[in-house]
Amino acid sequence: MLAGSDPYQYQPGFGNHFSSEALEGALPVGQNTPQVCPYGLYAEQLSGTAFTVGRSGNQRSWLYRIRPSAVHRPFEPYSRGAHGVVGTFDAAASVATPTQIRWLPFPIPDGADVDFVDGMRTIGGAGDTALKNGLAVHIYTATTSMGRRAFCNSDGDLLIVPQQGRLAITTEFGPIMAAPNEIVVIQRGMRFSVALPDGPSRGYILEVFDGHFELPDLGPIGANGLANPRDFQTPTASYEFTSDEWEIVNKYQGELFSARQDHSPFDVVAWHGNYAPYKYDLACFAAINSVSFDHVDPSIFTVLTCKSAHPGTAVADFVIFPPRYEVQQRTFRPPYFHRNCMSEFMGLIHGEYEAKKGGFLPGGASLHSMMTPHGPDARTVELATSRELVPGRVADGTQAFMFESMFQLRLTRWAAEHTQRDHSYYKAWEAIPATFDPTRKVQ
Ligand SMILES: [Fe+2]
Repeated sequence: MLAGSDPYQYQPGFGNHFSSEALEGALPVGQNTPQVCPYGLYAEQLSGTAFTVGRSGNQRSWLYRIRPSAVHRPFEPYSRGAHGVVGTFDAAASVATPTQIRWLPFPIPDGADVDFVDGMRTIGGAGDTALKNGLAVHIYTATTSMGRRAFCNSDGDLLIVPQQGRLAITTEFGPIMAAPNEIVVIQRGMRFSVALPDGPSRGYILEVFDGHFELPDLGPIGANGLANPRDFQTPTASYEFTSDEWEIVNKYQGELFSARQDHSPFDVVAWHGNYAPYKYDLACFAAINSVSFDHVDPSIFTVLTCKSAHPGTAVADFVIFPPRYEVQQRTFRPPYFHRNCMSEFMGLIHGEYEAKKGGFLPGGASLHSMMTPHGPDARTVELATSRELVPGRVADGTQAFMFESMFQLRLTRWAAEHTQRDHSYYKAWEAIPATFDPTRKVQ
């Protein structure tokens, strides 16, 4: 990187074998582990899959750094703050409920210094990090930057959805700036530190305990559409060479641990490989839907999927409901009523979701669990059944999203008992009338 140039330089593509060097010639030529690396750097591999995973699915990167990341003092239990991140969801610590659940916006602490790590709270999840099976959904609310603290999640990959405030993320692979309406994926084991250029910030996090996110197959859609690979952005190498004291906070088996070291974790001068963080602007999503009548299932809005071992079934899908045209004729256009064999957690980045005319607000959330009935609220139904079906825009100025999972989620007590939980949510459907008339057959 040249002095004075934009520090945020990205490499386009998804799952590529990227390579980047902040100093010319820092990447070894023709081999990964020379006896002595250029500039006296140390070679370190970060493995995102087992060594023996087949070539098409194997993920790893080689990092060339000033000091190995092994150079740190022992990890100790994290003592700062009352952190609310968990990695197991047993009956003693969490709550199962099949009811429809909604939360009003999660408040950002007022007057307190809370960074990204201390501001992370688990809403719910399923499975167990130790068995690499399941997922967790978190929310973060933060007011201050992490400074010389780095976070590392040993439990799974994090898909971060900023809702308020940009995140200036320093990673071992280089810096990433993520604004609301962009997402960032930081995979298992990568160290990163979050600064808040816009002050108080809030967002959502989807964590998967096994596997990695990938682009969904397109089937009959063909080679183009939905999230296109070229729009994903991976950072370029950038390093700092200091002897400052740093704290590494490590989430391991759902618990936080802290270690200190006398050098920056962001000392990677060059790297290459296909295991690297990335960001994606949701505005780049090429939406597809019916142009005649009826609905295509919402899977058509899948941005990324983390596949399970069951074909066609996901540990978690990340799905969006972007601004688009709706043109279907003789069709009830809002999202249809349904009960799903998957769990649906929804959040709202900005705007007003087309199926809910109030109560589902930016920074809030809803959870429709497995087989929990849900759909458009009473007002949406009334409008949708009486309007003229001309082609029109939907969701302009709005970005809602869904974490959809094959697992049954349990709520943490923090989320189940939160003061922002909207216990009147069931009323969203209460006013839907019975319009059945056995003497009036009209379609
Ligand atoms: Fe749904």
